[in-house]
Amino acid sequence: MDFELKTLTRSRICSEKCDALVLLMPLGAGAFSSEGDALSQLTGLAIESGDFEGKAGKMLAAYRPQGLSATRLMLVGVGDGSLKNIRLAVLAAMGALKNSNAKRVVIDSSALAEPGSAMVCTVVVACADAAYVYTTTKPKATLSPVERVTVAVPSASLLNAATAGFAKGVGLVKGIALAKEWANRPANHATPTLLAGAAQDLGKLGGIKVEILGPKEVAKLGMGSFMAVAQGSGEPLRLIVLRYDGADKNAAPVVLVGKGITFDTGGISIKPAAEMDEMKYDMCGAASVLGTFRTLAELKPAINVIGLIPACENMPDGRAIKPGDVVTSMSGQSIEILNTDAEGRLVLCDALTYAESFKPAAVVDIATLTGACVVALGGVRSGLFSSDDALAQSLMAAGESSLDLCWRLPLDEDYAEGLKTNFADVANVAGRAGGAITAAKFLQRFANKFAWAHLDIAGTAWKGGAAKGATGRPVALLVDYLLAQASVAGGAQAITAPVKIRATKTRPAPRPSAP
Ligand code: BES
Ligand code: MN
Ligand code: ZN
Repeated sequence: MDFELKTLTRSRICSEKCDALVLLMPLGAGAFSSEGDALSQLTGLAIESGDFEGKAGKMLAAYRPQGLSATRLMLVGVGDGSLKNIRLAVLAAMGALKNSNAKRVVIDSSALAEPGSAMVCTVVVACADAAYVYTTTKPKATLSPVERVTVAVPSASLLNAATAGFAKGVGLVKGIALAKEWANRPANHATPTLLAGAAQDLGKLGGIKVEILGPKEVAKLGMGSFMAVAQGSGEPLRLIVLRYDGADKNAAPVVLVGKGITFDTGGISIKPAAEMDEMKYDMCGAASVLGTFRTLAELKPAINVIGLIPACENMPDGRAIKPGDVVTSMSGQSIEILNTDAEGRLVLCDALTYAESFKPAAVVDIATLTGACVVALGGVRSGLFSSDDALAQSLMAAGESSLDLCWRLPLDEDYAEGLKTNFADVANVAGRAGGAITAAKFLQRFANKFAWAHLDIAGTAWKGGAAKGATGRPVALLVDYLLAQASVAGGAQAITAPVKIRATKTRPAPRPSAP
């Protein structure tokens, strides 16, 4: 899908040839029928008749409307015009067009009070979200026919104001698409080695350096906990290290750590068969790190970022770890593995220890860590845990601004009580109660040398049921957090990439070659 940002006045838009003209209409937009152009008259009539009010997500469509060059006109309500409602409206309109053969779509913002940068960004991201179709293992899937979306603003000065938001939206779309793509792939098409290949492909974009560590290097680092999880699988583990240097080389980096369990059977503590297939999504943290780096390559903000992805499978096997096994982590702490299904924290803890070596400004880990977080927060907000109030506030704010929400949960020391054991420094599980928090308490033991936050995305990274598929979350949250950090550090010129008005095509990532 191509995106374009353009100035179109009310009267110009009437003669704009396209397959669908989508008009974003706020509640109480007032009647335009007194204005001379056909679009104003049509919308005015619809409002005056009471047929269309502009309630968020509500639509009114017409085919070959008189006086317009557009084949279809869709009025779509945006309610109060909030970003959330803009997203809802665009998802509704683009969702409806999925079943048409419209190729060229114009989304017009001239009825909005302030069609600004954030609005344009939201429109672009929502368009791509609605049009996304997974094709890697189902190439004949009917593709959404929309080829080009033009976001129209009514004046040149508004165009200037919206340019940065447009560029950000287009950059985000690429990152979110990459995250969805890798998350959706079945485990046999997304092994640790293939995931490392996807990272190496990012290295070809320029601006990103990639290093892949295999079992030998990881053993040398002493990552006994990570290795223990991988030992039940025939697929060799990979530790993926990404580096984006957008700022001065002395500036401390933000480190993103993504859980990359490419399939989680539970190991010897095996999971029930029902819905076990969804555990192909247990690398969504990793996918969000890859997606974030894809967007960094596009937007080139002035910040240094490291990405760490411990990737392996969690399988039952003759060589697999057994409940009660004790292993030694890179930090030197011994861990009693009481439940082999609590494997995410076992791979993350060694990556967190490794993160120390980068002298980070902050470390954020992203993981589909616990079913308990799904119970606590459902699919609306990701769980946020942090030992650092400023970091927690920045991530909360990034969640709000990107519409990729999270919610902070506590880390009281009392929650760590259940992790005590007579056989090692720490056990990998406590009881059932407060499972998302006890998992975070486990991780915190390995993250006490830097500002640290943990995002539990078990409920938000994918959807089950009929709409089964990856959401691309929390790429938007991470990008907004990093952009905010870049502007704090570097003033207003945080995005250093030249802004292109006409964007390039976004396609699914090519199949990577094995490293
Ligand atoms: N990958 C799962 C968490 C998960 C479960 C995410 C369901 C999404 C849906 C994780 O590795 C896991 O199995 N966690 C266990 C921890 C338990 C053994 C303490 C869980 O949540 O049941
Ligand atoms: Mn598990
Ligand atoms: Zn898992």
